[in-house]
Amino acid sequence: MEIRVIQGSITDISSDVLVVNLFEGVTVPGGATGAVDSALGGTISEMIASKELTGKLMETALIHTCGKIAPKRVLVVGLGKSGKFDIEAVHKVSAAAMRSLRQKGVRTVTSIIHGAGIGGLNTADAARAVVEGAITGLYEGDLYKTTGNEDGMIERFTVVEHDEAKIPAIQSGAREGEILGKAVNEARTLGNEPGNRMTPTILAERARDAAQLNGLEYEVLDKAQMEEMGMNGILCVASGSVQPPKLIILRYKAGADRPTLALVGKGLTFDSGGISIKPSEGMQKMKFDMCGGAAVIQALAVIAQLKPDINVTGIIPATENLSGGAAFKPGDVIKCMSGKTVEIISTDAEGRMILSDAITYAAKQGANYIVDIATLTGACVVALGNDITGLMTNNRELLNSLTSAASVAGERVWELPLTSEYLDMLKSTVADIKNCGSRWGGAIQAGLFLQEFVEGTPWVHMDIAGPAYTEDDCGNSYRAAGATGVGVGTMAQLAVKLAEQA
Ligand code: BES
Ligand code: MN
Ligand code: ZN
Repeated sequence: MEIRVIQGSITDISSDVLVVNLFEGVTVPGGATGAVDSALGGTISEMIASKELTGKLMETALIHTCGKIAPKRVLVVGLGKSGKFDIEAVHKVSAAAMRSLRQKGVRTVTSIIHGAGIGGLNTADAARAVVEGAITGLYEGDLYKTTGNEDGMIERFTVVEHDEAKIPAIQSGAREGEILGKAVNEARTLGNEPGNRMTPTILAERARDAAQLNGLEYEVLDKAQMEEMGMNGILCVASGSVQPPKLIILRYKAGADRPTLALVGKGLTFDSGGISIKPSEGMQKMKFDMCGGAAVIQALAVIAQLKPDINVTGIIPATENLSGGAAFKPGDVIKCMSGKTVEIISTDAEGRMILSDAITYAAKQGANYIVDIATLTGACVVALGNDITGLMTNNRELLNSLTSAASVAGERVWELPLTSEYLDMLKSTVADIKNCGSRWGGAIQAGLFLQEFVEGTPWVHMDIAGPAYTEDDCGNSYRAAGATGVGVGTMAQLAVKLAEQA
């Protein structure tokens, strides 16, 4: 889909559909929507009066214009309550609008920027969210359907603004939105690939492709190299699989005098639980256990294009977690790369094992900041549900930067406290630490475990077990079921923010 920004009057520019909007509870539309309403002789007002249009978030109504204005149809999309309006809402609204237009013979869409006028949002941020939403809204996860996905192509998306002074901000926002939208969709495709088509080797190849496309440095450590470096946290998890593990490394370089942000993403291409096997019901979802790794690959792709003045290293430990004669077992003691010994209580707490070595590697490479992102615990989903990423940290300042990056990106995050007393739950009688403790506070225990490996580096842990994928379209009129690409936007915006601060 081609993305354009043009200056002009929305009623004069031809397209198959023009997208305008409506806040909930508004009875007389103003702004661009008001202008369209007048040109159509009050159709929109009438639809509001008859309650066909209420302005509820992501509600859509399609109106034929019958030659009264240049666009053939007008799509009115609900913005929800004006008091709750933010970048996340703009993103959802734009995505829902485009999703509603699939398979309706629409080829060209024009849109105003939701929220930049009456919504009071920053123009460039709103433009970014409109374009990103348009791209992510059209995504489909039907990678292997052999029939039925050929139509519904929208070829061109044009942002229209009458105020010439706003055009430069809109252009730069739209460009960012295009980069982000495409990257998020790429991350979703990586996540949606089934386990048999997304092995550690294949994930490494896809990372190499992304590196080549975006001019990133690419390196991969194979099993022998990891053995040499004592990365037994990764190797123990990989021991039950015939697929060789990989440690994938991507580097964006801004300059030797600049600080380095390390992004560490869990790349578990399939998590059966290992010997501590998971219940079979729902186990297919564990193909999504590499979504943190996918988000890191695509965040690096975005960063390579936005070019912030900070070095960024992406580190993705990739392996399967299977059971078998060679698999690691509960009771085993593993010496991680850091030198710490870990007593395995559950082989299903494998994410922290592979992340421990990747974090040690990041710290030893001299990273100034470490952010890890992982589908780490079901407990985090119990705590925060499916829409919110759990954050844990050893550094308030970095957490604040990440939180504000998330709000710019339109992603939801919430901090969980790393209460040091809970570390007692991880005390082992034979080793330095156990890989899991009691049932309660599981997300925090996992965070405390990871903290043992950061060596004092400012660090934030993102637990995306909830938001990494959606199980169905569940009212999600704005996105397809499957991997969501969560984290790409937040990590990319964090790099931009840290570059400005440093
Ligand atoms: N990959 C899972 C976590 C997960 C759960 C992701 C649900 C997405 C949805 C992780 O490896 C895991 O199995 N965690 C265990 C930890 C436990 C054994 C301490 C869990 O959450 O049950
Ligand atoms: Mn597991
Ligand atoms: Zn896992």
